[in-house]
Amino acid sequence: MSDLHLGLVGVGRIGVMHARTIVSTPGVDRLTIADVDPDRARQVADDLGASAARDVDALLAAGIDGLVVATGTASHPELIRAGVDAGIPVFSEKPVAPDVVLSMPVLKHIAERSGTVRIGHQRRCDPGYREARRAYLAGELGWLHAVRAVTCDVSPPPVAFLATSGGLFRDVSVHDFDVIRWITGRDVVEVYARGSNNGDPAIAGVGDVDSALAVCTLDDGTLAVVTASRYNGAGHDVRLELQGSLGTLQVGLDDSSALRSAEPGVAFPGGTPHTTFAERFAEAYRAEIAAFVDLVQGVAGDDLCTPADAVAASAVADAAQESLRTGAPVRVS
Ligand SMILES: NC(=O)c1ccc[n+]([C@@H]2O[C@H](COP(=O)([O-])OP(=O)(O)OC[C@H]3O[C@@H](n4cnc5c(N)ncnc54)[C@H](O)[C@@H]3O)[C@@H](O)[C@H]2O)c1
Repeated sequence: MSDLHLGLVGVGRIGVMHARTIVSTPGVDRLTIADVDPDRARQVADDLGASAARDVDALLAAGIDGLVVATGTASHPELIRAGVDAGIPVFSEKPVAPDVVLSMPVLKHIAERSGTVRIGHQRRCDPGYREARRAYLAGELGWLHAVRAVTCDVSPPPVAFLATSGGLFRDVSVHDFDVIRWITGRDVVEVYARGSNNGDPAIAGVGDVDSALAVCTLDDGTLAVVTASRYNGAGHDVRLELQGSLGTLQVGLDDSSALRSAEPGVAFPGGTPHTTFAERFAEAYRAEIAAFVDLVQGVAGDDLCTPADAVAASAVADAAQESLRTGAPVRVS
């Protein structure tokens, strides 16, 4: 199949970026967009030479070959189901649902209808994370004595978004939980989390923390530390360090790293730090949409995140949120 007609629902922060990517992806001939705000859908469609549908039903009736879901998290379950029921492949932004309990019926629905669904954990398409996985699986690092994951935004998104995000671990660190599982091939069995609020008090007001740390124990005893913040003035900082018995490797250490060396005379990194996730993962977002287009065209062998893997990462995020709430370590179920 070529000259695909893709549908996209939700054109907010990430949906607009996906829309731009989709119209420039080889193999895609047409894009039709829907949003709960039809004027917004029309405006984005006009800007990109795409079409707008008045609502999701009209989008699904427009003869689309695949559906991309980029709405707020709460609507992912109903939209994933709608795409599966329409018999087309679905690529949904993470997560499958706000938490694991709400995810399980979606997994069941997908399985019962043999649906083809992938979830947007774009780091699996990022060259650095891919190299880290290759090196670890090839044995170049030996056994891991420390895994350190960092995901920091420069400044928080609107508090209205945070109020619906499910918390810092579910919104941000879930990407780290996914790649830790993906790279090591291990499950996280226990999480102990702490958080802090030294930024805008409104974030605490909606029940979230602005910075947090989780100590994760993997099923072979390996320890991983996952940190996140909404207030990283140095830039958008996403890194993963794997320290092993044979070697150490760091993802995200390049000229654009959002840090500076304290050592006299060391000029590295000398470039301009990233400021947004869109910049940091531009290549990965393009690669994941290209992989989804391949999937819609029937090309086998993609390594996009499956719904089951995405829910496994969400289970770690749920445990981290619960640990944050109780102050005690939580087993991952
Ligand atoms: N993979 C990543 O790096 C990454 C980054 C940011 C956001 N996300 C995920 O993407 C999703 C969207 O985040 P965002 O920041 O773009 O949100 P947003 O609020 O900026 O945009 C959401 C858009 O969806 C529309 N919408 C909401 N419910 C709808 C429905 N039922 N039907 C049609 N349209 C609907 C809204 O009108 C809005 O235009 C979230 O689930 C978030 O977790 C992923």
